[in-house]
Amino acid sequence: MNWVPEVASNLASKVDAVLWFITVVSLVFFIIISFVLVYFAIRYRRRQENEETPYITGSHVLETIWTIIPSFLLIVIFAYGFVVYKDMRTPPQDSLEITVTGKQWLWLFAYNTGKTTLNELYVPEGRPIKLVMKSDDVLHSFYVPAFRVKQDLVGGMYTDLWFTPTKAGTYELFCAEYCGTGHSAMLGKVIVMSPQEYEKWEKGEEEKAVSSLPPAELGKKLYTERGCNACHSIDGSTLVGPTWKGLYGHDVDLQDGTKVTVNENYIRESILEPQAQLVKGYTPTMPSFKGVLSDDEISGIIAYIKTLK
Ligand code: CUA
Repeated sequence: MNWVPEVASNLASKVDAVLWFITVVSLVFFIIISFVLVYFAIRYRRRQENEETPYITGSHVLETIWTIIPSFLLIVIFAYGFVVYKDMRTPPQDSLEITVTGKQWLWLFAYNTGKTTLNELYVPEGRPIKLVMKSDDVLHSFYVPAFRVKQDLVGGMYTDLWFTPTKAGTYELFCAEYCGTGHSAMLGKVIVMSPQEYEKWEKGEEEKAVSSLPPAELGKKLYTERGCNACHSIDGSTLVGPTWKGLYGHDVDLQDGTKVTVNENYIRESILEPQAQLVKGYTPTMPSFKGVLSDDEISGIIAYIKTLK
């Protein structure tokens, strides 16, 4: 049985050890106290009518014991937790730095090679990773259960987080701070690769494989991968943003009272500058995808929208 998520970072087993220590200590005392409680209830029950309770004034020995033992245990729990916490808060000097931006409702990762990825964080196995994080709007929280790390992203300041991935694989990334309508869809993945694979990925050989897809299929893939699905439905239902179903080729009313026909250029502009021609009845919440989606990817999304009749 899995009591806790998979262990996939250097910090995970340390956090688990603290958790288990506290759980076992609590369990031992729960059993002792419950046992004594039941025993006393039976042993000192009222046996006959008019039975007088003896008058007891207290015991210095007992009071000293039940003050010292719990105090000692609490100090041990604090000290143990503090040591692990300090470790988690101190990134090694040689960490690989990656910038993380959280915004409603996506994750943006910027690497020092100039590469950026959306909702997918790529890291090499066995190397300390330091994430420098910021929010473009409200509070978000970066949470990877398999790594046992969680940190808020705060508008107007940087926060950080580090871990060393210990196992190649794909791990879930959650936003763990309620940040609005799309919060539950603000999901991502952490992809841990072997150092050799990572080097290859950094050189960009992987990306060609993606854009060799037919445009409409690439667009379909991007629809979920880039988080479009958090706000745009493909079945005609209204979410935070307009549905993509039947969007292409139709006239839409804009906020400023004018009308526009949805064509390639309108979709492209709405991806790069979402607030330029805002559709009536919707709030200006969409982030700009400038620098996030390549021209090929934008063409893919347009091709995909055209298929949604
Ligand atoms: Cu971002 Cu919840």
